[in-house]
Parts: sequence; structure tokens; C-alpha cells
Amino acid sequence: MADLLKNKLAVITGAGRGIGRATAALFAKEGAKVFLCDVDKDPLEKTINEIKSINRHISGISGDVTKQSDVQNIMKKAAEFGNGSIDILCNIAGITRDRVIQKMTLEDWNFIISINLTGTFNCIQAAEPYIRETAKNELEKTGKINSRSIINISSTSGTTGNPGQINYAASKAGIVGLTKTVAKEWARYNIRCNAIAPGVIETRLTQAKKEGEDFGIPEKQKQMLLNLQKETGLARDPGQPEDVANAILFFASDLSSYVTGQVLTVAGGVIGSI
Ligand SMILES: NC(=O)c1ccc[n+]([C@@H]2O[C@H](COP(=O)([O-])OP(=O)(O)OC[C@H]3O[C@@H](n4cnc5c(N)ncnc54)[C@H](O)[C@@H]3O)[C@@H](O)[C@H]2O)c1
Repeated sequence: MADLLKNKLAVITGAGRGIGRATAALFAKEGAKVFLCDVDKDPLEKTINEIKSINRHISGISGDVTKQSDVQNIMKKAAEFGNGSIDILCNIAGITRDRVIQKMTLEDWNFIISINLTGTFNCIQAAEPYIRETAKNELEKTGKINSRSIINISSTSGTTGNPGQINYAASKAGIVGLTKTVAKEWARYNIRCNAIAPGVIETRLTQAKKEGEDFGIPEKQKQMLLNLQKETGLARDPGQPEDVANAILFFASDLSSYVTGQVLTVAGGVIGSI
């Protein structure tokens, strides 16, 4: 593969680590101009510097997807980097704060909903002038519209449920409804909107849980998931960020030009057991 994303400007949130970083590297290889954001400045800068050796058309700024002013600034800067248009938007920023229902506080609930679900909404709304409005202007001026694509990250927790993740599962199920709605509202402007539902992928979110940190999985639960993977999943290593990035590339590129409103599970065959 090469040049699947030539002449496209892609914005990727949560690009400092894990799936966002792997997606940024893959998009750069495929010839896109990439504009990255992450709430954590150091990993973001590290990603940008690493990818510069693959493709010099890379930039980005730090920002928090829960803050509308940050997100508006990110989309404005990204569009300037891309001559006024955003062609691909990947809403990847996300986090976990797991507790069983009876121990989940309202603060835990709101924290996760605000980053994973409201953050995705904020990004789509802030990008609208450079995605939908730009597409509408193209249609009025030329009678044709370039294809554009939004990719949101759900989770098998959202599509099948997962004990200990009521806040996360609800945020990721919300992303499914949001994705299908954007797909229906913006299809007339040749804008696709799809979601990926990853299973367990090896990143910071699924590392062994450390005391005092929000993310990570307790060792016992992780072993259960890895055993399930061994018993029912594809005979290979557990899921890697690159496995998800490849699926994101399908939705970002014109290979999926007639596909919208879909949720693609990327879980190596391990789909929710209940
Ligand atoms: N790893 C998995 O098993 C898995 C499974 C299903 C879904 N997901 C989803 O994939 C996405 C990426 O997760 P990952 O596994 O790569 O985790 P990760 O922790 O490696 O990367 C997530 C990135 O998002 C950034 N981020 C967090 N909050 C932010 C905010 N408010 N504003 C901007 N950036 C923010 C983090 O700083 C981090 O760099 C998330 O939406 C996650 O829910 C992951």
C-alpha cells in the first residue's frame, strides 16, 4: 500500500499514544498531511518527531477534547494546515476509570462520558465548518464534492457490555448512536461516518493496573481476557494498535467510499461472551 491518503488532511485526537499514534504513523506512510492532538504534550511531541522521518507534512498541538475552546482551536489550526479543509477526522482520544456499579461515583461517570462521548461530539461539531461547510461550498461551486470521512472509536464494551465498565460502556455505546446520526445527516455531502469497536488491544489502557491510576486492568481480569483470546480468538499475538489503525485506514480511505454508519469490530474473533 502507498498513497491511499494522498492529498488528504487528517486530524487525529489522542495521537500521543497507542491506537492514535499507530494511526498517525500509518496515515503518514499513506501520504496524508496529518494534524495531531493529545491532552499530554510530551507524548504528542514525541509522536510528531518520530513521524517526521516518514512524512514531513505533520503538525499538531496539545488540547483537551472536553474543552470546546481547545477543540475549536485545534480544528482551526488543522484546517489552516490543510488549506481550509479537513478531509479525515479520527476521534481516538479516550480513557477508562473502571468500577462496579455500586462503587461508581457520579464524578467517575461524568469524567468518562465527558472525555469519550462529549469529547467526540465536541470534535465533530468544531470540525463542521471545515468538513460539512467546505463540502457544501464545493457542491455549490462545482457540482461535485470530494469524499470525506469521520472515524470514531467505540469498543466491544459499548457493543456487548463489560463488567466494571458501566461508564465506559455507556460512553462507547453512545458513540454508536452518534456515529449513525452523523452518517445520516451528512451523507448528502459525501461525508462518511463510521466507528471501530476494538476488543482488547495492548496499550496503556490495558496494561497492568498501577495503584492510583485510572486506566489499566487488574492482573486477574487481564489473564481472564488473555485466556479467552487464546481459546476463541485468532491464533496469534493479542491485538496491537496497528491492527486497529489498519481498520481505521479502510474507513479513512476511498476503499470504503460507499460505506457509512457502520461499526466494525476489531477483536481477533473475541466478541462479547454475554
Ligand atoms: N486499548 C484497548 O483495548 C481499547 C479497546 C477498545 C477501545 N479503545 C479505545 O481506543 C482509543 C485509544 O485508546 P488507547 O488504547 O490507544 O489508549 P492510550 O491511553 O494508549 O491512548 C489514548 C490517548 O488519548 C489521550 N487523551 C485522553 N484524554 C484526552 C483528552 N481529554 N483530550 C485529548 N486527548 C486525550 C491520552 O493522553 C492518550 O495519549 C480510546 O478511545 C479507547 O477507549 C481501546
